[in-house]
Amino acid sequence: MSAKPKLTMNQDQKNIMSSSSLFSSKSSELSGEIIIPGDKSISHRCIILSSLAIGESKITGLLNSSDVNCTINSMKSLGSYIDLNSNYECIINGIGIGSLKQPEKPLDFGNSGTAARLILGLVSTHPIKTNFIGDVSLSQRPMRRVTDPLINFGANFKLSNSDFLPIEVKGAEYPIPITHEMRIASAQVKSAIMLAGLNTPGITTIIEKEKTRDHTETLFKYYGYEINLEKKGGKNYISFEGQKVLNPVNISIPGDPSSAAYPVVAGLICKNSKIKIKNVLSNPTRDGIYKCLDDMGASIIYSNKKNEAGEITYDMEVSSSTLNPIDVPANRAPSMIDDYPILAVAASMASGTSIFRGLSELKVKESDRLLGIYNFLSKNGINTTIEDNNLIIEGNTDGPKGGALIETNLDHRIAMSSIILGMVSYEPIKVDDTETINTSFPDFIKLMKKLGAKLSA
Ligand code: S3P
Repeated sequence: MSAKPKLTMNQDQKNIMSSSSLFSSKSSELSGEIIIPGDKSISHRCIILSSLAIGESKITGLLNSSDVNCTINSMKSLGSYIDLNSNYECIINGIGIGSLKQPEKPLDFGNSGTAARLILGLVSTHPIKTNFIGDVSLSQRPMRRVTDPLINFGANFKLSNSDFLPIEVKGAEYPIPITHEMRIASAQVKSAIMLAGLNTPGITTIIEKEKTRDHTETLFKYYGYEINLEKKGGKNYISFEGQKVLNPVNISIPGDPSSAAYPVVAGLICKNSKIKIKNVLSNPTRDGIYKCLDDMGASIIYSNKKNEAGEITYDMEVSSSTLNPIDVPANRAPSMIDDYPILAVAASMASGTSIFRGLSELKVKESDRLLGIYNFLSKNGINTTIEDNNLIIEGNTDGPKGGALIETNLDHRIAMSSIILGMVSYEPIKVDDTETINTSFPDFIKLMKKLGAKLSA
């Protein structure tokens, strides 16, 4: 991997941060119920696929977040007709596979790795020349993992420092289909290749050793697109023929299980709490965090099973629990890759030492999350060690000392996890920037306060 560019925030960006800082203080007796907003991964994919369908799609429960807005704005620049009403119901008039237009300005992906990588795939098989740009955090995240396989369709990319945004993109005029065996477990890479394959004549095939979130596959089927999913010799084969038709849909997006994990962990670790969390996606490629919490002895009751958008949702009733420490195997990482920061908070309240194994991918998220978790735990008095790519956390059921100022470094999950940790700490924890939470869960602070969290400016 090439050296990361050294980018820093300007004074305006720092001022925005200081104006959105927050104190999180010891909280107990959380109660009440909340509805979890739409899943971020499914929201991005629904906007893209509805834009490629022929006819009008209606999406309800779309996540109203800045990451998802990047996908909406980029798809509009590429020719899609997207209307949002005040209830965040979204009507999209799709233009059909292969009809993307040349955008007039660079496409700006803000903080969103998913939007940037998926749309890199999409554009790579259209005769489009454009630039991809993003914020300071996104401009330090590796992109060759996506562009390397996309080159084989016939696309050209000029990356900054050989691996980063800004990227000059020249999509293939006459794309050729590829068979690609995944080198890292990444749903973004897989989905970028799948979106590239949609406008490519012939069969695109992807082979996965480790299964990653499968929403793109599920949605292909939901939009009536024929796709072949097979397991052979312990590997998953995904293949389909390009340049067919996606049908428009009426779709309701399930609640995001990664967002739900924050109030769930708060309900488990704050004393005398009982809360209900409604509309949470349940999918084996996303439920590693819930398996871990179950292994730790968490009291979570699942009810009201529903089918939404080819997926399953549940309501969850969460009660305060004494948590056991856990040894999380590396092979669980793809099913909980975004959820280690909040699991670390749960582990810090467990009755012993936990170990999370095989966390190398955490270093290339919105920030270096392995270091970010280490920082917010150790600064608040929790004994934490990084050994190779493993994280070792000494839990203490009495709760940590707290009292630290946490720098979130444009990482929403570090911000939300630090806030939940403050709710069980002796001294309040200050988080420097809550704006960043808008990327995935804009109502987080409002909903946590509704449950009884003591959060103040
Ligand atoms: C996502 C895949 C994951 C995850 C990200 C969303 C997706 O990234 O971290 O938040 O929607 O495909 P990787 O594919 O890099 O693991």
